[in-house]
Amino acid sequence: MNKRLYIETVGCQMNVLDSEMVVADLRRHGYELVENPSQADTVLLNTCSVREHAEEKIYSQLGRLRIDKHKHPEKTIGVMGCMAQKDQKIIFERAPYVDLVVGPGQLQQIPELLEKIRSGGGRQMAVSLDRKAGAQEVIRRSHETFDPLRDPTMRPTPFQAYLRIQIGCDKFCTYCVVPNTRGPEQGRPPEQILSEARVLAEQGCKEIILLGQTVNSYRYAADGQTTRLAGLLRQLHEIDGIERLKFVTNYPKDMSEDLLTTVRDLPKCSPYLHVPAQSGSDDVLKRMKRGYTVADYMEMMERIERILPEAAVSSDFIVGFCGETDEDFQKTVDLVRRCRFKNSFIFKYSVRPGTKASERLEDDVPEEVKSARNNELLAIQNAICEEDNAAFIGRTVEVLVEGPSKKSVKRGDDGPLVQMTGRTPCDRIVVFDGNRRQAGHLLPVVIHDASAHTLAGVVRTQHTGPEVFGIGVPAGA
Ligand code: SAH
Ligand code: SF4
Ligand code: F3S
Repeated sequence: MNKRLYIETVGCQMNVLDSEMVVADLRRHGYELVENPSQADTVLLNTCSVREHAEEKIYSQLGRLRIDKHKHPEKTIGVMGCMAQKDQKIIFERAPYVDLVVGPGQLQQIPELLEKIRSGGGRQMAVSLDRKAGAQEVIRRSHETFDPLRDPTMRPTPFQAYLRIQIGCDKFCTYCVVPNTRGPEQGRPPEQILSEARVLAEQGCKEIILLGQTVNSYRYAADGQTTRLAGLLRQLHEIDGIERLKFVTNYPKDMSEDLLTTVRDLPKCSPYLHVPAQSGSDDVLKRMKRGYTVADYMEMMERIERILPEAAVSSDFIVGFCGETDEDFQKTVDLVRRCRFKNSFIFKYSVRPGTKASERLEDDVPEEVKSARNNELLAIQNAICEEDNAAFIGRTVEVLVEGPSKKSVKRGDDGPLVQMTGRTPCDRIVVFDGNRRQAGHLLPVVIHDASAHTLAGVVRTQHTGPEVFGIGVPAGA
């Protein structure tokens, strides 16, 4: 029997990684991946619940699949990920032609559940326990991390891989659905993480991006010993073949001196820190229950500046959170101006059922005000990006080449010279004219042009850079 799988992924890096695992698992069960839902007999949507808009898009995609299912009733349609955990049976009610609902803590069950559906067992659902459904330990166990199987073809590129070090979140920011969908925070055992990293290195992976909702809060205690992120980085640094280590997302309160000095002292650690501030107003931060003040955040920025002066820091902001006044918003603008983030992701507040904010605070900022604040903050951040990127002109940066750029893929370039793209250690995107064979290499690139989001340059060869020969040594000596 044919087993053709189509999978579509939205949401954060966690979901990208989950899809990689599920595809690896299903391939082992005889499935092949196809590029179009119409060619598939199994369609999986890996979903996100972080904002209402993300969910609406999934429900409209399900609406399109309904027609497909009507024509091909034997087709299996599954919803996995955070929306599956959050909405559970509601998905069957809103889209009765869905066959499978699987939360992010139950992904290991997918092959078996698909088999049950195929053999006439009807609709299947596997979700984890709600956060208040029982004893802590039982709830914890119901959110299983699903990591050992890897599928290189599903990675961002063959040379880069995500590696989960932590699941869940215990911070309970009042606006956020993630502690409900992903369950309690749990650090994975260091031995598991290290052995997975070794496998990735053997598969040719050069950059590993460690994942956790609050990755720098990582903690694993066993046999009287506690491992934190800094210790883990030191061990990962020893692995041959791995050339770059990054980690996302950081929680401001847990950006310790020890972690920053570790990043400074380990050459493979990228000086790139994504540490969302969310707001620049203490009142708003308090209502968000973020656990820090603007002064705390600035203190953290000073610590970063002192220990890692070259670091690029990026952030997330929510505008239009409950009760946010013009003054509060101006304080966010001030924070963005003072911190000069490498980039910021800016979101309009979206009420999420089941969160503290949805129960206790009024979503009282009108949509037009949210949009205006979003645009204003974006324009300020873009101007900063443009100025700070311009400072790179004339400098040489080290680029891990990822492959042909979006532009050259779109143009269908197939000659020997194509526009290639990659990233600097501080996560800036660089484009240059090169060839496909450069993918996966670390190359020095001299920057000659810059826009808000991209640096452009040329690969430095021995002939373009005097310092390659050493100062004072004439070329060709
Ligand atoms: N764990 C990470 C990110 C989680 S979700 C962290 O703590 O930073 C990614 C981003 O989505 C958040 O940083 C926040 O800016 C945004 N976000 C989360 N819930 C939201 C909501 N209800 N409305 C709008 N944006 C939200
Ligand atoms: Fe959500 Fe806050 Fe946890 Fe991030 S730290 S996932 S924003 S609850
Ligand atoms: Fe979305 Fe779940 Fe990630 S809600 S942002 S996919 S953890």
